[in-house]
Formats: sequence, C-alpha cells, structure tokens
Amino acid sequence: MGRRLHWMLLLAFGLAEAAPPDGDFTQAECIACHGADSPEVHSYVTSKHGVLLAIGRSGRAPDCVACHGGTHASLDRDRLHHGCHQCHSPRYVASLAANGEAMIAVGHLKLREADDILEQARADFTAEELQDLLAIRARLDAYQHRLRLGVGHQSPDYQWWHGHPALDGELLRLKGAYDVLMRKRALEDKR
Ligand code: HEC
Ligand code: HEC
Ligand code: HEC
Repeated sequence: MGRRLHWMLLLAFGLAEAAPPDGDFTQAECIACHGADSPEVHSYVTSKHGVLLAIGRSGRAPDCVACHGGTHASLDRDRLHHGCHQCHSPRYVASLAANGEAMIAVGHLKLREADDILEQARADFTAEELQDLLAIRARLDAYQHRLRLGVGHQSPDYQWWHGHPALDGELLRLKGAYDVLMRKRALEDKR
C-alpha cells in the first residue's frame, strides 16, 4: 500500500491501526470506545436490532455483547453467524449470508475498476498530480468498509446508502478526475 494511501486511511479511521484492548466490556463501553458516531456503532443503531433495542424491546433483539461477546478475544466469524440461529431459521440466515457475500463481491469489482484506472493514470502522471485520485481511492475503501458493516449488522442504510451508492459516486468522481488530468495534458501538448 502506498504511504500516502496508508496515511489517508489512518485519518479516515482513527482506530484502524490500534490493537483491540483486553477486557470484558459492556455494550455501553463498546459504544463509548468505538464512538457513538462511528460507522461500527451507527450501522448497528440503524439496523432493525438496534431500533428494537432503542424503543425498549431489549431482550428480544441482540446487542453488541450478545453477538460479539464481551471480549475481543472471543471474536470468531463462524460463532458470530451461528448466533443468529438462536432467533432466526438457518434458511433465512443462509440466504442473508449469500446476499451479503454477493453484495461485498460487487463492491470489490468496483474497487478493482478503480485500481485499473489508477494503474493507467500512474503510467502518465506524477504522484503530485494524482493526489485527487488517491484521495478518492481512499474514500472508496472507507465505503467498502461501510458496506461490510452494513452486511454484518444488517443495516439497510449502510448497504444501500453509505454502501453501494456511495461507491458508485466515488467511482464516477475518480473517472471524472482522471478525465480532467487527461484533458489538461492534451491542452499542454497542443501548446
Ligand atoms: C477501550 C476501547 C474499546 C472497547 C471498550 C471495545 N473496543 Fe472493540 N476495538 C477497539 C480497538 C482499538 C480495536 C482495533 C481497531 C479496530 O479494528 O477498529 C477494536 C476492534 C474491534 C473489532 C474488530 C476486531 C478485528 O479482529 O478486526 C470488533 C468486532 C470490536 N472491536 C467489537 C467490540 C465490542 C463488541 C465491544 C464491547 C463488548 C468492544 N469492541 C469494546 C477498542 C475497543
Ligand atoms: C446481530 C449480531 C451483531 C450485533 C448486535 C452487533 N454486531 Fe458487530 N458484527 C456482526 C457481524 C456478523 C459482523 C461482520 C463480521 C465479518 O464480516 O466478519 C460485525 C462486524 C463488526 C465490526 C467490524 C469488524 C471488522 O472485521 O471490521 C465491528 C467493529 C463491530 N461489528 C462492532 C459492533 C458493536 C460495537 C456493536 C454494538 C453497537 C455490534 N457490533 C453489534 C454482528 C453483530
Ligand atoms: C436475540 C435474538 C436475535 C438474534 C441473536 C439475532 N436476531 Fe435478527 N432479529 C431479531 C428480532 C426480534 C428481529 C425483529 C423481527 C421482526 O419483528 O421483524 C430481528 C430482525 C432481523 C432482521 C430484519 C428483518 C426485517 O424484516 O427487516 C434481519 C435482517 C436480522 N434480524 C438478521 C440477523 C442476523 C444476520 C443475525 C446474526 C448475526 C441475527 N439477526 C441475530 C432477533 C435476533
């Protein structure tokens, strides 16, 4: 990963480089530390589970600890998905998982398209000239992360608003920024 991209990701995700701390936490502590406004928490808040909890139907819908456990050590993907069976039919959960994987795969296709454009651009332009494109590329990663959270937390907002449409928008912006560079170059060549 390029150094610039690396730093932009760090700016985009303050926590991203830190190690998960040891300890047994309550949901309030998960939210306080990850940040009430973080995509990790907000994607839960905007899920049906989060809404049920917010309207006082706790006990029916899972909170952070019910799904993830209280500690970071207990993070285990299979266990996470198995937990759904407590309350939903295996068939329903399997179809959600398949849809989720497809959604994430389509996201990866968009990232790959962006990388192809960048690769072409790198052949013709200096790192300095590519700054706008690289900033957009970093935002694409951020939106792919949101999409993954939308799938993990079953938040339609994060799948369909902060996820795919946002990826589409950034991909268009990347193409536009590349076009601008090419046009400037063509004008310079004419002089
Ligand atoms: C004292 C701060 C703190 C508390 C409390 C905390 N976390 Fe974290 N958590 C972090 C940091 C730092 C990371 C690593 C950076 C990242 O992935 O965001 C992390 C990572 C994670 C990850 C991703 C781990 C991985 O392997 O990629 C999950 C899931 C997570 N936390 C869930 C929770 C849940 C659920 C709780 C409450 C039971 C919780 N956290 C409480 C700070 C905290
Ligand atoms: C219904 C179960 C469920 C609940 C409730 C839930 N999560 Fe998750 N969470 C998941 C699943 C499933 C994933 C996706 C895991 C994956 O893709 O490997 C996930 C992903 C995450 C991640 C990203 C991990 C990564 O690899 O990047 C974080 C951080 C996280 N959850 C924190 C929280 C916090 C904090 C709460 C409470 C505010 C919470 N979760 C509530 C099931 C849940
Ligand atoms: C403690 C029980 C419980 C667990 C565990 C649980 N859920 Fe739920 N879930 C519910 C309840 C209750 C509802 C609301 C059902 C309703 O009345 O529409 C719900 C709703 C949903 C919805 C929204 C359905 C809709 O019609 O909008 C999805 C999607 C979902 N759950 C997926 C999952 C997944 C995936 C997991 C595991 C990561 C999971 N749930 C774990 C209790 C649970």
